[in-house]
Amino acid sequence: MVKVLVTGGAGFIGSNFVRHAIRAHEDWTVTTLDKLTYAGRLENLASVADHPRHRFVKGDIADPEVTGPLVRDADIVVNFAAETHVDRSIKHAGDFITTDVYGTFVLLEAARENPSLRRFVQISTDEVYGSVPVGSSGETDELKPRNPYSASKAGADRLAYSYWATYQVPVVITRASNNYGPNQFPEKIIPLFITNLIDDIPVPLYGDGQNERDWLHVEDHCRGVDLLIEKGVPGEVYNIGGGNQVKNVDLTHRILELVGKPASLIKPVADRPGHDRRYSLDTRKLESLGWTPRENFESGLAATVRWYRENEAWWRPIKDQDPAFRKYYQEQYGQR
Ligand code: NAD
Ligand code: TYD
Repeated sequence: MVKVLVTGGAGFIGSNFVRHAIRAHEDWTVTTLDKLTYAGRLENLASVADHPRHRFVKGDIADPEVTGPLVRDADIVVNFAAETHVDRSIKHAGDFITTDVYGTFVLLEAARENPSLRRFVQISTDEVYGSVPVGSSGETDELKPRNPYSASKAGADRLAYSYWATYQVPVVITRASNNYGPNQFPEKIIPLFITNLIDDIPVPLYGDGQNERDWLHVEDHCRGVDLLIEKGVPGEVYNIGGGNQVKNVDLTHRILELVGKPASLIKPVADRPGHDRRYSLDTRKLESLGWTPRENFESGLAATVRWYRENEAWWRPIKDQDPAFRKYYQEQYGQR
């Protein structure tokens, strides 16, 4: 059996990846290591909770006592664990440094002590390239992160690379664009807007709404990571993008239409400080390995709206009952 360690596997993308991995690889056993921060939820792993090839370990990637034995015992490590929300990083950057940079360092140190490790996949992000006014970012482009989240991810990205260049840890780095799909915590634009609209709550659109993101369905992201475990060359970086360039205002109108609510529920609010205008990825390198996104944005977004409609039991406890979420929402949007 191939022993796969997935960090951050109780979060949005990590949990989709764990489910994908168990489904796609009968010869893999998967260990999920997750601190269960506000964004990590055991409910995301309910379908594999009792699976004989899956086990869950609660712990912090920055704790070498926890991380060391798990990494030394693994054949493959996929590091999804991170603080991930740009708006939170603008208010409280410290956790981003501790988890995204220092936590990755702790994992990499343990990886140095595992000579049979086959791959260490560092999940980075397109945000490390910074804002790209025209064209698309290629893997060798300069990194110009502009907020504490993207800067800490860029630090981890290059630190991981240094462990390949210096110690030959078999690191492969992925830089994906904005993901959407089931189980995304309802603070990111798509699930926040869908769930607000279901309840007729206005949706806060930042600035002029002209900022553009490239949307990637989470399952296409998981298939890309899976392929790179097999075919990614150590020391190399691979972009994973959906090829769906959409301005926030247009995205908002599509969600309004899918939920069946009027445009009067759009509430223009003050812009995010340092708001990156546009991201776009050149994905030819990954495509040359045989990957192509399968999900069409229209149907993928419609299915995502359906998922949130059908899974109120997943998000209502967060949005309606969790005092920490209410406090966050008030701080973020109350005076805006
Ligand atoms: P998420 O916030 O939904 O999940 C993050 C998970 O990491 C949570 O389960 C959380 O409990 C866990 N975690 C946080 N700190 C930890 C720690 N110190 N130790 C162990 N676990 C910890 O995030 P996501 O959207 O699923 O993103 C996963 C990864 O993908 C991140 O590395 C992120 O930077 C990257 N990424 C995300 C996107 C996107 O659009 N969401 C795009 C590109 C890259
Ligand atoms: P987000 O989902 O936070 O992802 P990221 O910042 O990692 O790209 O935001 C996506 C886009 O949506 C970004 O341009 C900011 C914008 N946005 C809003 O307009 N309103 C909101 O309430 C949120 C959360 C984001």
